[in-house]
Amino acid sequence: MASLSFSTLPTSTTTNTTNKRLLTQSSPSHSNPFKVSCKAADDNENSDLPPKYSSFERRNLLLGLGGLYGAANIPSAFGVPIEAPDSAASCFEAFSSVRNPKEALRGLACCPPIYSKAAPVPYVFPTVDKLRERKPAHLLSKDADYVEQFRAGIQILKELPDDDPHSWKNQAKIHCAYCNGGYRQEKSGFPDLEIQVHNSWLFLPFHRWYLYFLEKIIGKHLKDDTFALPYWNWDNPEGMSIPLMYEVNDPIKLSGGEIVDKTKIRSLYDPFRDQFHAKPKAILDFNYGGQDVEITPEEQMNINLALMYRQMVSSGYNTRLFMGGEVKAGVNPISQNVKDLSLGGSLENGVHTAAHRWVGNRRMPNGEDMGNFYSAGFDPVFYAHHANVDRMWNVWKALGKKLGKPGHVDPTKPDWENASYVFYDENRVRVRVYNKDCVDTQTMGYTYQPSKTPWVSRRPTASPSKVNIIERAMNNGVKKVEDPDVLPLTLTEKTPVSVLVSRSKTSPEDKKKENEMVCFSGIKYDCEKFVRFNVIVNDPGEKQKPVDKINAAAGQFVGSFAQLPHNHGGVDMKMSTSVEFGITELLEDTEAEQTDSILVTIVPVIGCEGVIITGINVKVVKAEGETESETDITKTDLADDIEF
Ligand code: C2O
Repeated sequence: MASLSFSTLPTSTTTNTTNKRLLTQSSPSHSNPFKVSCKAADDNENSDLPPKYSSFERRNLLLGLGGLYGAANIPSAFGVPIEAPDSAASCFEAFSSVRNPKEALRGLACCPPIYSKAAPVPYVFPTVDKLRERKPAHLLSKDADYVEQFRAGIQILKELPDDDPHSWKNQAKIHCAYCNGGYRQEKSGFPDLEIQVHNSWLFLPFHRWYLYFLEKIIGKHLKDDTFALPYWNWDNPEGMSIPLMYEVNDPIKLSGGEIVDKTKIRSLYDPFRDQFHAKPKAILDFNYGGQDVEITPEEQMNINLALMYRQMVSSGYNTRLFMGGEVKAGVNPISQNVKDLSLGGSLENGVHTAAHRWVGNRRMPNGEDMGNFYSAGFDPVFYAHHANVDRMWNVWKALGKKLGKPGHVDPTKPDWENASYVFYDENRVRVRVYNKDCVDTQTMGYTYQPSKTPWVSRRPTASPSKVNIIERAMNNGVKKVEDPDVLPLTLTEKTPVSVLVSRSKTSPEDKKKENEMVCFSGIKYDCEKFVRFNVIVNDPGEKQKPVDKINAAAGQFVGSFAQLPHNHGGVDMKMSTSVEFGITELLEDTEAEQTDSILVTIVPVIGCEGVIITGINVKVVKAEGETESETDITKTDLADDIEF
């Protein structure tokens, strides 16, 4: 395991400990923070749970046979949506698995203030006279009146006291509480399991609601209910840098001629950003792997557009692939033992994570602010970034209609629709909100000003190879994934590995309604680290262009797996997840639809030493998301972590 020395930084541990919940089930302890490595995967399925909750007890809890958490009002023991707890006091310190928690300079006390003890009420949308229109931040940066108003709004929140749920600090910590183990699934009958809003179909709706309330709160304090957040228009080449309003620090001239000294109102600025990326001309790298690559801005833009196409179209082909895998109550988000436990959506895994990492300061112990979930909400640009992610959800649906792609629809399962979160609204009332109520932004009172989407026509292409790649790979000793000693596959830090994966030939009729995916399941990694690998299909590389130099705009580059470090409870740092990439278009382009296997190459980029991949296979996915045929060659059949 890599040595773990971090430079010492001034720590600003928050002193607000009033919300730390000290009940029977105390926060997991920090003892032994170094014991875990990816290689030494401990397969005891309950190793990350307090012994108090054995599987037997948990089943009893769920069936309502005893204990505090009877399941009387749970409709069915099989399929209960994730719901945030009622009480603001039902929150744990986001106990960090940051190796040295003293270096978590934003503090780990992420629980909301107990402003009101009343149970949350269902949220009712206020009537809206005029839609709030979110506009591109790079354009708004030139609108001094807007910038001034926005800055003033954030500044007001920054000056509110710590016990006010509207304070900037408390708004920022909402993110930490929902992704770093602040809440448990107690309302759904699983008091021992954490709630996690990333890496699954909760990702888009949770963040939509999060931004919704921040926008309403700012509007409230500005006494302007038309106030709308800006969006960081990174999918448009004109908007690929950090928007100027978040950076520039000189006086601004309002339209009325008044000069405002911005040094007094630097509320959109965040000192914890990568200073090389916080320059007006630095172009966001959609494939950022922790290191800057030397390419021209134009090349970077081209790569970004190709990646955007892939995330929105070829790898975001249906609901599950774009929005993320299903999670419902009873699923342990920090388990490593469930096959296909959760799957981050294509956009979440892609530009979303890359931008977090790229903006965060890599020199900080935890990549603060944007580079780590616990601190990301402290950077004002987080909300602009997520506004574009949110916009992409709308664009994805609209694009589906336009291109006649039936898979671009919201989930309709009750476990998704009824999953819920609790927020303090703009009137400081605790409200409960549901996924099903956030599918239409107009109903929510806002809309996005349209902007160019040049990536729609940037489908990465490839041409047929002159040699038979599969045959040559076999001759070169590349193994089939079914060979007994191939899976699980353990990656090293730098060396690409190739395997042959079987598929069934596609007939022209099938091609119309199906999409073919290459899937990696049971990827086990250390969730404290930034992990990234790229996946290349049917390109063995050449002397002049080795496989690790194939760039993301090439058709054979089918995607990347990337994870932002996040903390989840301090006991066990291993995570298990899966990822899938579309290969239909690549197979078409390279005229490889009639081959019976593909050559898959995994190129480690960062944090891959010891990462384990348990299963690799090719799946055929129908537009509705039904799996038609699956050549499942996952070697280890992972134990089911759900106890009923
Ligand atoms: Cu909740 Cu961008 O992460």
